[in-house]
Amino acid sequence: MSSSKQKGTKAPKKSPAHKKVSAKQKKSSLKEKSSETAITSMLHESRVFNPPKALAKNALIGSEQQYKKMWNESVKNPDKFWGKQAKENLEWIKPFKKVLNWKPPYAKWFEDGKLNVSVNCLDRHCRSERRNKAALIWEGEPGDSRVLTYNDLLREVSKCANALRALGVKAGNRVAIYMPMIPEITIAMLACTRIGAMHTVIFGGFSSEALADRCNDSQSSVIITADGGYRKGSSVPLKKNVDMALEKTTSVKNVIVVKRTGENVSMKQNRDHWWHDLVNPQSGICEPYAADSEHPLFLLYTSGSTGKPKGILHTTGGYLLGATVSYKYVFDLKETDTYWCTADAGWVTGHSYIVYGPLSNGATTVMYEGAPNYPDWGRIWSIIEKHHVSILYTAPTAIRACIRAGNEWPKKYNLKSLRLLGSVGEPINPEAWIWYQEVIGEKRCPIVDTWWQTETGGMMITPIPGAIPQIPGSATRPFFGIDAEIVDKNGKPVPQGAGGFLVIKKPWPSMLRTIWGDDERFKAAYWSQVPGVYFTGDGARQDKKGNFWIMGRIDDVLNVSGHRLSTMEIESALVSYDIVAEAAVVGRPDDLKGEGIVCFVTLKSGTKPSPEIKEKLSKHVVGQIGALARPDEIRFADALPKTRSGKIMRRLLRDIAAGKQSTQDTTTLEDFSVLASLRQDED
Ligand code: WTA
Repeated sequence: MSSSKQKGTKAPKKSPAHKKVSAKQKKSSLKEKSSETAITSMLHESRVFNPPKALAKNALIGSEQQYKKMWNESVKNPDKFWGKQAKENLEWIKPFKKVLNWKPPYAKWFEDGKLNVSVNCLDRHCRSERRNKAALIWEGEPGDSRVLTYNDLLREVSKCANALRALGVKAGNRVAIYMPMIPEITIAMLACTRIGAMHTVIFGGFSSEALADRCNDSQSSVIITADGGYRKGSSVPLKKNVDMALEKTTSVKNVIVVKRTGENVSMKQNRDHWWHDLVNPQSGICEPYAADSEHPLFLLYTSGSTGKPKGILHTTGGYLLGATVSYKYVFDLKETDTYWCTADAGWVTGHSYIVYGPLSNGATTVMYEGAPNYPDWGRIWSIIEKHHVSILYTAPTAIRACIRAGNEWPKKYNLKSLRLLGSVGEPINPEAWIWYQEVIGEKRCPIVDTWWQTETGGMMITPIPGAIPQIPGSATRPFFGIDAEIVDKNGKPVPQGAGGFLVIKKPWPSMLRTIWGDDERFKAAYWSQVPGVYFTGDGARQDKKGNFWIMGRIDDVLNVSGHRLSTMEIESALVSYDIVAEAAVVGRPDDLKGEGIVCFVTLKSGTKPSPEIKEKLSKHVVGQIGALARPDEIRFADALPKTRSGKIMRRLLRDIAAGKQSTQDTTTLEDFSVLASLRQDED
C-alpha cells in the first residue's frame, strides 16, 4: 500500500486544532543511519493536536511557555522547586529543612521531615468543605455500588488500622494485600500507612505460588484478603489460594478475610479472622504514626525479564509528593472532576492513580471490580455514563480490545461528561490513539499519554493537557523535575532524532529507593549501564521539538541486517491497517539477516484470515516503513499472550516464532490457552 495516509484513519479535517499533514511528511522513511549502539526509528507521525482553547484558559498550566519556564526552573534548581511543591501540596507533622541528600544511587528526600500518608489523603480533607465529598465511588461487577465520603473513608481506615495494631502489627512490618477491587483494598492500603506498616499488594489474579513467593520475600506477617472476587460472572477463590500459599510460607501469622462473594471458605482458628468480626467493632479514631519522610511506605513486586520478581521499594514523603503533584498537573484537576482509572490496585498505576494521587488531592476516584466486558463490551461506557466520569485513565491494551469489539458499544452511551483521557502501560499505537480521541473523546478531549514505571512511582514523560500539543504515539515532554535523555550504550547522547536508550539524569522524589533486600541487584539493574544515571530499560527517540517517542523495552528491539528496529513501530504500522485489531512483532534467528521479522496479528471481529490479507499486510508495512521492515512471516491469532497487566509477552512469542519449546517463566501470563492455540496454529 503506497498511500501516504494510514488506512482506517480519518484525520479530523475540520478541527482547527489539527494541522493537516502533507503526504510527503506523512510518508515514513528510513531516516537515521543505524549503528550498533542506536535504535533505528522509522515510523514518523506528524498529526498534531493543540490543547483546546477553553481547557487551556482554565488550566493550571495554560501555555507551552509556562510549562517551559516551570520545567527549566525545576531542573535548574530541583531543591527549590521540590521544596516549594512539598510545602504547598503536602501536610507535614514536622516540617523538613533539607530537600535532597543524593549519594548516587541512593536518594533521601525531605529526610528530616515527618508526615503521615493517610492524614494527607483523608484527615486534611475531613477538616475542610470536602469532608462529605465522595472520595470513592465503587461499582461492583454484579452491578452493586457504594459511595464513601472522605469522612466515611477516614472512619473505615481508622478501624482497620486499629485492627492491625490489635494483631500486633508495628511500624515497618509488612502486610500483604491480596484482594479483589473492592473498597476494602483502598481501606487496607491506607490503614497500613496510618500505622507506618508497609503494604505489599499482590494482584488478585496471581496464583497461590506467586503469592507465597512474595510473602516470603517480604516476610509479611499478615495477609488481608477476601473469600473471593467477581470476574466475568464467576468467582476467583482468593481465600483458597491464600490457604495454599500459607503451606509454603512461615511468616504469616494472621489473615483478615472480607466477605465478598459469600462462598464457602475454611477459616483456621486463631489465624483467620473475618473482617466484619475484627475490623467493624474497632474505634473509628486512630492516632496516625508520624513517619520519617524516608520511612518505607510499600513494596510492589515487578517481574524482571529473568529471575525472581523484584520488590520495588517506595518511601513516604517523596513518593506521595510525586503521586500528588503529577496527578494534579497531568489531569489538570478540578474540584468537580469524577476520575476513573481502570487499572487494578495491584499495579503501580492503581497505587499512584487510584489511591494516593487522587485522594491526596481530595478528588473523587471511581473503582470498578470486574471485567471490562461483563456483561458485555458496553460496561466501561455504561460506568462513565452512570457516574458522569470526567477523566478516564486506561491502557492501550484495553483501548485495542474495545476497538476490536466495535464502535457500536461506546455509541450506545452518553460520554459527554468526559473532558480528558489518559493512557498508560505501553506505547499507544497512533491508530489506537486516534480512535480513542475520535470515538471516546468525541474530538473534544485531549489525551495524556503518560510514560512511567513501577520504579519511577509517578508519571515521568507526558503532555500537560493545557500546555503541550499532543502527537499520537508520543508521550511528548518530561514532567517537572525530570531530566530525561537518549543515549547510546556508552552513555553518550545520540544525535537528535536517533533512537537510543532512555535514561534519567537527576534524582526525583518518587524514584525507587532500592530492590527489597538486594541493593546489588538495584545497582546492577538501574545504575550500572550508564554510571550515575537511572537506566529505564526502554528505547526512545526525541524529535526536534523535544518530544519523546517511547519505542518499547530494549529487550524487544530487533536486529535486522545490522539495523536495530523497534518492534513497536512495526506493530503500529500493522495496527494502522483498518482490519487489524492488535499485533505483536518479534525476531527469530535468521542466518542471512541476523533476525527475521515475525508478526502475530489479531483481526477485528468479522474478518477472516486469508493469504490475501497476509500479502496486503506485508505490503502495507513496507509502504509505511520501508522494505527493511518487510515481515518474513505473518501469523494470525485469536489472542496474544499477555501479562495480567495487559502487556504483550514477546519473549514467549519469540520462542514460538523460533519453533522452540519455551523455558520462560510464565507465572505472570494471563491466559495459558492462548499459548497452546498459538502453537497449534503453526503452519
Ligand atoms: C511501558 C506502568 C510507552 C514502558 C506505569 C515502561 C509505556 C513499562 C508507557 C513500565 C507509555 C508504560 N508509553 N511505554 N505511555 N507507559 N510503558 O512498571 O516499557 O508496569 O518501562 O509501569 O511500561 O511498566 P510498569
